Amino acid sequence: MNILGVSAHYHDSAAALVIDGQPFCAVQEERLSRHKGDAAFPMLAIEWCLEHAGLEPEALDAVVFYERPMLKFDRILTCALRAFPHSWGTFPKAMKNTLGEKVWMRGIISSRLGVPGRKVLFTEHHQSHAAATFLTAPTSRAAILTADGVGEWATLSVGRGEQNTNGGTEINLLREIRFPHSLGMLYSTFTAYLGFRVNEGEYKVMGLAAYGRPTMTDKVHQLIQRTSDGAFSLNLDYFEYHTTARRSYSDRFIELFGPPRDPYAPIDLETADGSRFADCAASVQQVLGDTLVEMTQALHQETALPDLCLGGGVALNGVANARILAESGFERLFVPPAPGDAGCALGAALYADRIHFGNPHRDMPDHPFWGPSIDGEELARLAREDGHPVDQLDDDLLIDQIADDLAAGRIVGWMDGALEFGPRALGHRSILAAPHAIEIRDQLNREIKFREEFRPFAPVAPVEAADKYFELPQGGARLSRFMSGVFPVRPVWRSRLQAITHIDGTARLQALERDMSPRLYSLLEAYGQRTGIPVLLNTSFNLAGEPIVNRVAEGYSTFLRCGIDVLVADRTRVTKRATARRKEDVRA
Ligand SMILES: [Fe+2]
Repeated sequence: MNILGVSAHYHDSAAALVIDGQPFCAVQEERLSRHKGDAAFPMLAIEWCLEHAGLEPEALDAVVFYERPMLKFDRILTCALRAFPHSWGTFPKAMKNTLGEKVWMRGIISSRLGVPGRKVLFTEHHQSHAAATFLTAPTSRAAILTADGVGEWATLSVGRGEQNTNGGTEINLLREIRFPHSLGMLYSTFTAYLGFRVNEGEYKVMGLAAYGRPTMTDKVHQLIQRTSDGAFSLNLDYFEYHTTARRSYSDRFIELFGPPRDPYAPIDLETADGSRFADCAASVQQVLGDTLVEMTQALHQETALPDLCLGGGVALNGVANARILAESGFERLFVPPAPGDAGCALGAALYADRIHFGNPHRDMPDHPFWGPSIDGEELARLAREDGHPVDQLDDDLLIDQIADDLAAGRIVGWMDGALEFGPRALGHRSILAAPHAIEIRDQLNREIKFREEFRPFAPVAPVEAADKYFELPQGGARLSRFMSGVFPVRPVWRSRLQAITHIDGTARLQALERDMSPRLYSLLEAYGQRTGIPVLLNTSFNLAGEPIVNRVAEGYSTFLRCGIDVLVADRTRVTKRATARRKEDVRA
C-alpha cells in the first residue's frame, strides 16, 4: 500500500511516502525549493518522493493531509467573531495568511496530483504529531504528549498508544488544551518580544536563556496559570495573537516586562536591557519546563507506563526534554527527528496506514535519513572545473585524511548519503570541526554561520563514549540519538570541549550508534585516535537564513561562500585552491 503524507501552508511544508507500512522517503519542501521554512504546497517534495519510489500518482492508495482545514477555519472564524470589532481590520488578512487556499485542500490535492478526491484523507493535526512520535519509536506501549503553537484547535494533547497482540495499533488522545491557551504560543510570544523570528527563533530564546537568571518567573506566572484539572490557561490580557495578526503580545505585556527588543539591535549582555532580555528568556524557559514536568508527572502517574513519546514543535526544546526525562518519572523519552509540522507529513501517512486502513504494525527503521542522496562524482567534476584540488580516496584513507584535517583545525563540510528529515543535521549534512578551543566556535560564528554569538554549537560522540564526557541520566543516550536533549558536559572535560560547551556548562549532544551513520562513527574513532577525545563539533551545513544543503551543488556553493576549508561528499574530498593558510594544530 502506497500512502503519501503532506503537511503544508503553515511553516515547513513536507511530503513523506509510506510504502507497505514503512517510511520509504520524506523531505521538507525548503530543502528542494531553497526557501527556508517554505510553507508552500510541497509540490517539489511530492514529485521527488514519487520519482524516488518510481510511482505514478495513480499508484497512490491515499494522500493524507496533516490536519483538518475546516476545523482550522472554524477556529479562525470563531476567534475573529469573539474579538469583533477589534478584529475587523485584520480578519481578512489573517484569513488570507493563515488559510489561503487551505480550506479547499481536497480539491487542490486532487487536481495537483491527479488523484481522485475519494483518495484524499485528513488527520487531525495532533493525531499527526502523535503518530509521528509514537509510530516511529521503538516501543509498543507509551504515553503520548504533543504540544505546539496550534493546529486546528488543540495546542496540547495527552494520550496513549499501543500495539495490540493481534498486530493492530491504537492511538487514543484522551484530553486536549485548546487555542488560545498554548505553551507553544507562550514561548513564541517571548520569541517575538525578544526580537527573533517566530517559528525559527525559538532556539535563540533557549540559547539566550542560559545567559540569564529566572528572576521573572513570577511575572511569567501572571501570564500562565495551572488549572485544577491539571491543564493550564493563559491570561489573554497579555496577548494579542488570538485577535490580530499584527503582534502577539499586548501593551500589558510590555508594562510587565518592559520595552521589547529591537530585532536589529545586537544583544549586549553587559547592558541592563541585555541582561533583562536574557532573564526574560531564562524565566519563560523555566516556566515552560516546570509546566511540562508537572504535566508529564501527572501523565506518568495516570498511565503507569515507562515510556513517553513527545511530539509537536515544543518537543524541539532540548532543555525542557532533559528535565522531563529527569523529573517526570518516565524511564524512556522518545522524540522523533522531526517532531514539528514537517514531521506531521510522515505522521499523517503512518496514522492512515495503521488506524484508517488498519494495517499491521511494522518495525520502524530508527534513523532520520529519508531524503535525497548525494553523488561524490558530481562534486569532483564541479571542483575540477573550477580548479580546486580534488582527492578521491577509498573509505579508510578518506576517513584518515579527514580526521587529520579536523585535528589540524580545518573546518569540514561533510555530506554523506541521504539527507536528514527534520531540522537537525545528524551527520549527513553537517559542518564538522574540532570541539576543543573557543576560537573554533568564534571562527564558525564569524566566518561560516554568520550568527549570534550566544547560540551554542552541538557535539557528536560515539554512544559508547558519550557518558565519559557528558552527564547523561538513564535514558539520556536515547534522547540524544536525534539531539533532543541538553545535558551537562562533565566539568573535568569542559576546558577541552570549549567550542561545544554552552555558557551554563551544557551541550546538545548527538550520541551516535555505529549503525546509524557508520562513516561518521569511523571518523569519530579516527579523530579520537589522534586527539584522545572522540568528540566533534557538529553543526548544520548551511549559512544563516538558508536551509540545510541538500545536493552536492548546494554544499559546494556554500563551501565557496564561507570559511569551510574542506568539503567531503561520499569519497570525494575537495580543498580550496587558495587555502594556503596554515592553521595551528588543535590536538586536545
Ligand atoms: Fe504542529
